[in-house]
Amino acid sequence: MKIGILGIGSYLPERILTNKEMESIVDTTDEWITSRTGIRERRIAADDEATSDLSYKAALKAIEDAGIDKDEIELVIVATTTPDYSMPSTAAIVQDKIGIRKAAAFDMEAACTGFVYALTTGYSFIKAGIYKKVLVIGADVFSRILDWEDRGTCILFGDGAGAAVLGEVETGGYLGGDLQADGAGAQELIVPSSGSRKPFREEVLTSRDQFVKMNGREIFKFAVRAFPETTAVSLEKAGLKIEDIDLFIPHQANIRIIESIAKRFKQPMEKFYVNLDKYGNTSAATIPIAIDEARNEGKIKKGDRLLLVGFGGGLTYGSCILEW
Ligand code: ACO
Repeated sequence: MKIGILGIGSYLPERILTNKEMESIVDTTDEWITSRTGIRERRIAADDEATSDLSYKAALKAIEDAGIDKDEIELVIVATTTPDYSMPSTAAIVQDKIGIRKAAAFDMEAACTGFVYALTTGYSFIKAGIYKKVLVIGADVFSRILDWEDRGTCILFGDGAGAAVLGEVETGGYLGGDLQADGAGAQELIVPSSGSRKPFREEVLTSRDQFVKMNGREIFKFAVRAFPETTAVSLEKAGLKIEDIDLFIPHQANIRIIESIAKRFKQPMEKFYVNLDKYGNTSAATIPIAIDEARNEGKIKKGDRLLLVGFGGGLTYGSCILEW
């Protein structure tokens, strides 16, 4: 049985925050942000928008695109680092919003690799014969956990959601993939006060430990190392070579990471889909948003082979090859 994407959709909040506006928030410049990251603007969720709201809007589009009845969905997975609550899961809230009572629902935390982890999990459930159709969502409202006084992090991220309905396809689909993690690097990208290790107390406000802390240089080095490593495993599993990939859909963190990978693979930049200039790093949402946009722009044709690669907090990384 071949398993692939039946439908895809995405949602970006309306509010645009430009680099120019960033200059009035932290000590930075449009020139610095553009030249160091490639990001020009990002979207910020409205005050009343949480991760489940963005997820729901993306999911409705994916279901419509798949042309299925919503009741056919048997499992909802939401990959996110910014759930509405630590309990209940965001997936359960999305399941209720869609109105698909009884569908199983759980969240998955693999930071920016979340969508690749969720897609692989959804694929595995279908492959095992447990479910026929699975809704996988990558969604984050990172603006809520950013330290808006830390210029090293707040300029990088944006909010957004992307969703895909997985099921049986006639041709192509999932050809091979790989998931990896290196927990030794956990401290390099962390929200220190966000769980049982350091519960939120008054003193946390002084340390600002309720916000994202990142060692940017280490994450950059990790990304450039992890990307080829996981790609090699996926290619081997799919029995393909790098030249067989028609479109690379990398996690959208920094244009310099993508350029360095293109150089290393000796592949033209035109084969790498890039939209980080418009949205920044939307964490678990970057990959499904990119697939949706690339498809809508006519950059994905029937039979094309896509390589999805994610990397992020954990440290986690992973990839998979899909034939459209
Ligand atoms: N504006 C102006 N100056 C800045 C800014 C800013 N926004 N941010 C940092 N600087 C300064 C620093 O203070 C430093 O100044 P100093 O030399 O006086 O100390 C200087 O710029 C250089 O800082 P670096 O950190 O060396 O800059 P670098 O070129 O490494 O770029 C960046 C920083 C953009 C964060 C880069 O390291 C990067 O993109 N890393 C990867 C981050 C990433 O992808 N994270 C997401 C992972 S996915 C997930 O799971 C969420």
